[in-house]
Amino acid sequence: MPPFSPHSAQTHSIAAVFSLVLVIAAVVFLIVASGVTYSVIRYRARGGNSGEPRQVFGSQTVEILWTVIPLFIVSGLFVVTVRAMVAIDAPQDTTRPPDIAIRAHQWWWEARYPNGVLVTWDIHIPAGRRLRARIESADVVHDFWAPELARKMDAVPGRWGYIWLESDSPGTYQGACSEFCGADHAWMRFRVIAQSQSDFDAWLTEQAQPSPAPTGIAAQGEQLFQTKKCADCHTVSATAPSSGKGPTLAHLASHVTLGGGISPNTPQNLTVWLTDPQAAKPGNRMPATPLTPAETRALLAYLESLR
Ligand code: CUA
Repeated sequence: MPPFSPHSAQTHSIAAVFSLVLVIAAVVFLIVASGVTYSVIRYRARGGNSGEPRQVFGSQTVEILWTVIPLFIVSGLFVVTVRAMVAIDAPQDTTRPPDIAIRAHQWWWEARYPNGVLVTWDIHIPAGRRLRARIESADVVHDFWAPELARKMDAVPGRWGYIWLESDSPGTYQGACSEFCGADHAWMRFRVIAQSQSDFDAWLTEQAQPSPAPTGIAAQGEQLFQTKKCADCHTVSATAPSSGKGPTLAHLASHVTLGGGISPNTPQNLTVWLTDPQAAKPGNRMPATPLTPAETRALLAYLESLR
């Protein structure tokens, strides 16, 4: 559960505030609940007796106590919260280039690295290094949230927000869009994959390489990819500019999931995307393209060749 499994300095601060608030709230709850329980039993009406206790009116001591104690608790939480916010906030300096630019679309995430590589869904980062991530939106308000690694950040059209994205150890961390943004909001997942610096460097270099040239039936698929207008929305090279209309399919065959996590990346599920995109992920923006079974097979072979 995210508040109890922080994997970065900033989520440790968030978890510390969360635990403190939880403990204070639990103590207050126990005091109030035991007071109520005691009164209900002790002063209940029985045997002709109304059970009403002695009434106290206008006690200065009691009034001072129930004003000062909550004031003290709330001020303490305010100070602790502001200190955590200051500690975890990244500089909102739009003049400095970010270490990674993350852009939200209805309904997928894409991330651009300084070397020009564009990825979708799986965002790789080097473990133990703090990246200054710029969060932006191509359409409506979304919210980038990887609960174990970082605070939330709204992706607001026309504005840039910055967060520190970091993981203290290698691993795969789940992320999601945390602001309702339309039909497929719930399927706007992503994963942050933290790797050792050398593995990350190797991955980034590999991403910049084009996939091997398709041969045979996959080469026919490549042609269809152009003639059937797939290429209008989907790029197949990680270094190409984003079309903005659909996620890049660069190195698609090496992805674990499809459609922002909605299904495993299997030939069967990929075929559904080709033949009936709305069945693959209801509500998504991909139009159906009439294809013969032979064309579907060729396109599938081509997509499977994008390693
Ligand atoms: Cu994007 Cu919710």
